[in-house]
Amino acid sequence: MNEQGREKLRGRFQKEIAKSAVEYAASIPFDWRLYRQDIAGSIAHAKMLAKQGIITDEEAKLINNGLISIQEEIEQGKFQFKIELEDIHMNVEARLFEKIGSVAGKLHTARSRNDQMALDLRFYVKEAILGTVNKLKELQRALLSLAESNKSIVMPGYTHLQQAQPVLLAHHLLAYFEMFQRDIERFQDCFKRTDVMPLGSGALSGVAYPLDRDFVAQELGFSCISTNSLDAVSDRDFIAEYEAAAALTAMHLSRLAEEMVLWSSTEFGFIEIDDAYTTGSSIMPQKKNPDIAELARGKTGRIYGNLIGMLTIMKALPLTYSRDLQEDKEGLFDTIDTLQSTLGVFAEMVLSITVNAKRIGKVVAKDYILATDLADYLVKKGMPFREAHSSVSKLVRYAIEQGKSLHKLGLSEYQKLSPLFAEDVYAITPESSIASKNIIGGTAPEQVKAALKRAKKILEGKS
Ligand code: ARG
Repeated sequence: MNEQGREKLRGRFQKEIAKSAVEYAASIPFDWRLYRQDIAGSIAHAKMLAKQGIITDEEAKLINNGLISIQEEIEQGKFQFKIELEDIHMNVEARLFEKIGSVAGKLHTARSRNDQMALDLRFYVKEAILGTVNKLKELQRALLSLAESNKSIVMPGYTHLQQAQPVLLAHHLLAYFEMFQRDIERFQDCFKRTDVMPLGSGALSGVAYPLDRDFVAQELGFSCISTNSLDAVSDRDFIAEYEAAAALTAMHLSRLAEEMVLWSSTEFGFIEIDDAYTTGSSIMPQKKNPDIAELARGKTGRIYGNLIGMLTIMKALPLTYSRDLQEDKEGLFDTIDTLQSTLGVFAEMVLSITVNAKRIGKVVAKDYILATDLADYLVKKGMPFREAHSSVSKLVRYAIEQGKSLHKLGLSEYQKLSPLFAEDVYAITPESSIASKNIIGGTAPEQVKAALKRAKKILEGKS
């Protein structure tokens, strides 16, 4: 074991910590990921200590150079993380002792691992948010491109997964664009509350040194500093918020995934996902399985679980820091990794989709889906809507009994149900149906064209 590390953590004890306890308590196997944020935070802290005359400029320089070379060692895979040094903070600090000697001991002046960890995590989550938002935009771009290149395809819209009314495929895809736009806004909102610099809170009560906290915030690109030390060291709302926003995003991805699974099935046959994003079966040679979409659907469970895990860790935790808080990290890292990789592969997969316009056209041609339009037709000729609904539902039943589609019925058959039906009833088609929904938010081609334009502007940041 490293002598300095042991000395720092074990000073008041007469006995060594048990090996099992060391292994159980160590967070370095996962919190090593915070090394960049930890080192940047330490560099800013040392610079500020020198500026305030708490350490000398030479000491700050030594610390600074030592930390930079430690970062290089880590990035070149030459750094040896040691489990007995518990966490990233102690691992870096112990190595700094090895490199620059006792001056390293001055770095932790006016700082505790409690505010240090709060800083590292906030810093990390801020970066994760930016990365996540970029990936969401990539997926939006892919959806927009798929919508643009299939602008005129009319497909069945569903309620209860039963054919309901015709819609443009582009309109359907743009519904997901909206969901992901809300997700982006949620992450951006979460960014504001994450962007708070906690150093200077010490272990819990603040520190007895004249620190310039605003200077540290500025050095690290934070827009403000925390205003209550107790809250600052024990708050993990920003992690729960990231995970909550991630849970909603994952839910949206899972709905999209489910539609990809359905639409690529033989029964639907609406789309084909490129071979590159599907897998075969080890036994059934004909299979082409949408595994990526299924996995995204499944991983949603883990992302939800991480949110519930975080909320449960915080529940009834007394102020301020308790070691329970160390459990905040694995779920967070898992959520970030899972969400970002899902978004990335989805953006590619969406672009790989071929739409089977012929097959969709065939499905729409089974025209019971136009029943609402027939009811609207009668309403326009003066019939109250409820009555029109009842007449058309009888008409549909009759057509089903006859084994005919609606446009195959003769005018006299229509007129048996209402004398208001005339020759112009045959002008009702899936195309006329969608054209009639010419209202903001509706599926008329004119509206969808405007929506595509709006979406493009949002992506270009011009909205
Ligand atoms: N590894 C710890 C964590 O992640 C760092 C803070 C330790 N603080 C302490 N008082 N033991 O929470």
